[in-house]
Parts: sequence; structure tokens; C-alpha cells
Amino acid sequence: MTSVLIDGIGELVTNSPAVGDGLGVLANAALVVESDQITWVGPSSSAPAADRRIDTGGRSVVPAFVDSHSHLAFAGDRADEFTARMAGARYDGGGIARTVSATRSASDDELRALLRARVAEMHAQGTGTVEIKSGYGLTVEHEARLLRLAGEVTDETTFLGAHVCPAGTDPAEYLDLVTGPMLEACAPHARWIDVFCEPASPHAFDGDQARAVLAAGRAAKLGLRVHGNQLGHGPGVAFGAASVDHCTYLSAADVDALAACDTVATLLPGVEFATRSPYPDARALIDAGVRVALATDCNPGTCFTSSMPFVIALAVREMGLTPAEALRAATAGGAAALRRGDVGHLGVGATARLTVLDAPSYQHLAYRPGVPIARLLDDRALDANRLTRASAG
Ligand code: NIG
Ligand code: FE
Repeated sequence: MTSVLIDGIGELVTNSPAVGDGLGVLANAALVVESDQITWVGPSSSAPAADRRIDTGGRSVVPAFVDSHSHLAFAGDRADEFTARMAGARYDGGGIARTVSATRSASDDELRALLRARVAEMHAQGTGTVEIKSGYGLTVEHEARLLRLAGEVTDETTFLGAHVCPAGTDPAEYLDLVTGPMLEACAPHARWIDVFCEPASPHAFDGDQARAVLAAGRAAKLGLRVHGNQLGHGPGVAFGAASVDHCTYLSAADVDALAACDTVATLLPGVEFATRSPYPDARALIDAGVRVALATDCNPGTCFTSSMPFVIALAVREMGLTPAEALRAATAGGAAALRRGDVGHLGVGATARLTVLDAPSYQHLAYRPGVPIARLLDDRALDANRLTRASAG
């Protein structure tokens, strides 16, 4: 078993409660990785010997970002909708049908190539774990296909047959399909089930429909996730899901309900950016003690960014999170939203998913928006003992 000492870390964010403040920051630190696990963390001066040594040259190291909400399994392009929104058009979910049509027309190999390229783009920006939803197939065959292909690039796959009701389909019949044959075909390829619960949208599902979808998913042993409160108020926070995502419109009672349960509120500020919508009241959530995650929601309609550093910068600038709160939400928060204890922190026993910052401090993630300072320390870099940008590509 080869051990690797990662040394010369100017600032190490562990997210470990055992170390320092909430972020568990260590200066002049090192860590040891064996078989993809962290086996030692501490000051560089007392680092143990290892088979190999990587010198990070004083850079910062943080837990790799956990992007707990994305829709990477799609083909086609909807840049024209973005342009129209910048000129005042409103988003209501209607464009999803265009992506469904383009995605159904794409071959497995085309979708495979798109998925791999998008995941590589995420790695190159510091993301180490990504959840990927279906939702652009909307037939038994196409939803199962998207999940099978997504499963080639991540373990965190989510069945989103209840994304929208396809045009011309009776909603009751479509729900029977989603909760019956479609779920049966998709459950073997999925860890989670999700539903777009949005009473204000003519395309999405109301509270009763969403409850039926989640109940069927739970019976099929899938974990629960919800798209809720994106376009208006709704019942999404009360479904007992692992995570309710968007949370753009929350009442005081919603915030109290979230604070009293273990549902994570996953905020997706790239969506507000790209749909010109008001940002969620993240401060109210954090101040009430709600567990908050940040994710990209990378999708062709409401937010086509794969960049967690961009999301962190938005959370700080537009939602009033401190840089520490934003980083925690993008790492430990995402891990909590996916109910994962092995990622999102760099304590002993954690999976070795590390992100290196070409910066002296994690604060630079928000301080240097748009600058490519973050990259996943991938196996290739670990093997090659190189930390230059070229090695991360
Ligand atoms: O999370 N809101 C529903 N689903 C996506 C958007 C999908 C699309 O417009 O293609 C979201 O914003
Ligand atoms: Fe989404």
C-alpha cells in the first residue's frame, strides 16, 4: 500500500470540528493519503514519513467541493432562452421540453461524451463529488438510459421522471407511469428520487402529486430530494427529504420547519443569477440554524455553470454568507445533502478528495471571482507528483 505525504500546505481547511474554528483551519499543514483515504492530518513539522511526497508549494488545500444538485445528462442548447431572460423574459419551466427532445435524439455515445466532458470541467474547478439527475427523458426507456449513463460517472444518481409532465400527456396518467413502470425501470440505476414541486408552474407538480412521487420512491428504497420553492411558495420543505433545493421563496414558517428537521436547504444562486430572480434569504436560514448546502444546479435552462467557485462567490456577494460559511456549505453542506460522511471534510478516515487553490487562503474563492484558482487534486496529479495547472487538465 503506497502512502503519499501531501506537504507544504500553506492553509489547510479540514472542516473537522476537532481542529480550530468551524472550518478546522491549519496553517503550514500536511496530510497523508493511503489507498484513497486520509490517514494523518497535522502540522508539517511533525508529518510522518511516506512512500512519496507532494509539495504543494504553500498553496491552500480545501475539501473537494460536493456539488449535490446537477442535471448533466442532457443534449442541446438553450442559450437563446438565457438571452431572452436577460431582456426581461421570465422562466417557468417550459423550455425543459426542448432539452427533452434534443436529449432523446442523442445517441448513448453522444450523451456519454457530454457527461464525461462536463464532469471533467467540474473536476478542473475543484469539484470531487457530483450528483446527477435524469429528467430529460420522460419515458421509461429514456429515463432509465440517462440514469444508466450518469451511473458511469457518479454514484450519486437521481431519478427525476417527475421533472415536468410531457406536453399532451394527462397528468394523472403520467404520474401513474412515473410511480409505476418508470420507477421500476429506473430504481436499479438510482440512489435518489426527486420531483419538481412547483404549484406556480403550469409544467411542474403540485404538493399532492409530489407527495405521491416521493412515497413511491421511498417504497422503492430511494432517498428523497425535492426541487421546491423556486418560482413561488409551496409545500416542498415539509416532505422529510434529505434536501429541498432552491428555497428561493420561503415563509418564516418554512424556515422554522427546516430548522426543526434534518432536511438540508440547498441553495442554487447560479439560478437566481441566470434567471434574474431574487436570491434566497440565506442569512435567515443560517441564523435559524438550518443546515445549508450550495450547489450549481448545472442545467441547460436555468443555470449552465459547472463552477462551484462561482457559486461560492455569488453566495458571499449576493446572499451575505461569509467566505467560511460559503465554503462549508459547498463542501460539508453538500455532503450532508447527499448523506455522505466520507466526503466534504479532510479528517482522518475521509476519502482523499482534495482541492488545491492557487491562493494563500480559501477566502480567495470569493475574493477572486472568475479566476481559475481551484482544481481537484486528481489521481493523475497524485501519481505524477505534479501540481502545475497542466497536470490537472
Ligand atoms: O433546477 N426547476 C427545474 N429544473 C431545473 C431547470 C431545468 C431546465 O430548465 O432545463 C432547475 O432549475
Ligand atoms: Fe435542478
